Amino acid sequence: MTINSNENELLLAIETSCDETAAAVVQGGRKVLSNVVASQIQSHKRFGGVVPEIASRHHTENITLIMEQAMAEAEVTFSDLDGLAVTEGPGLVGALLIGVNAAKAAAFAHQLPLYPVHHIAGHIQAARLEREWKYPALALVVSGGHTELVLLHGEGEYEVIGRTRDDAAGEAYDKVARTLGLPYPGGPQVDKLAEEGTEDIALPIAWLEEDSYDFSFSGLKSAVMNTLHNAKQRGEHIEPANVAASFQASVIEVLVEKTKRAAENYQVRQVVLAGGVAANQGLRRAMEKAFTASDVELTIPPFTYCTDNAAMIGAAGHVQWLKGNTAGWELNGVPGLALY
Ligand code: KG4
Ligand code: ZN
Repeated sequence: MTINSNENELLLAIETSCDETAAAVVQGGRKVLSNVVASQIQSHKRFGGVVPEIASRHHTENITLIMEQAMAEAEVTFSDLDGLAVTEGPGLVGALLIGVNAAKAAAFAHQLPLYPVHHIAGHIQAARLEREWKYPALALVVSGGHTELVLLHGEGEYEVIGRTRDDAAGEAYDKVARTLGLPYPGGPQVDKLAEEGTEDIALPIAWLEEDSYDFSFSGLKSAVMNTLHNAKQRGEHIEPANVAASFQASVIEVLVEKTKRAAENYQVRQVVLAGGVAANQGLRRAMEKAFTASDVELTIPPFTYCTDNAAMIGAAGHVQWLKGNTAGWELNGVPGLALY
């Protein structure tokens, strides 16, 4: 159901669900006029992961500046805007609240409608910054907090058909990186190291039940840790690059195979790779190889729209705009929000 027929609306989008304070101005869910991301990686690095309290404090310090910068770069003022879009959840509650309250305050002060956005819908809708959707479509969402196969029946109509039963793919990457002594966030480091290694270590792949699109990465992560631990006890040297390559091969095989199977079973016309782990070189190559010879169109957003950013929230905000799904002043940050 379409409420708004203007497809060129101007939205200021805000994202603060984890450790990036981000704001963007997006026109019609397609055109990015600005995309500002303040990463907190340096502050969390020494703790080996995101510290929620520190994340909230940084968001509080930065949010107004980042919103102003996004508007200045886009050369727009509040009077040019048609609304605001903000990540409602899932994420860290203290972090989400900063973005939600900043968006509510701006929307109230400037009498603008407020569009709530689900973070995963944001990752998925990053694809529309590249090209228009062809439905039915399938999205493989792989990030630090999520690993999901999502079917798209139409505009903003999501059905989760598979999800991780334990660790998210990015989480497994970060934990394996830590075991290998690599700094946080480890995903990109393992990716780089894997390029130099050989897949010569036998590691398990959890296929689960035959008809399941669910994933499990904790067994693989434990197998990597055990392999390194046992070698150390025996005084044997294992090449870290080979561990990275073998781990990455196992992750990619199950992700690509299940995506391929779902794409065939549901007869989709488009497949989208989304989320921070979509920046992985090996995964991008494997997805391209899996879909080049098929009729299915593969979309992989550019790197900057894969990791957390607000342009993707503006793209997903457009879907909410079209449907007229506004939020009231009671809008809150919801850490365990279900996909909409
Ligand atoms: O989507 P994202 O920025 O944040 C969440 O919503 O979680 O994803 C961050 C995750 C981290 O776990 C990070 O290690 C992983 O994405 N990541 C990668 C790569 N780049 C980022 N994992 C594997 N290979 C990469 N090149
Ligand atoms: Zn994310």
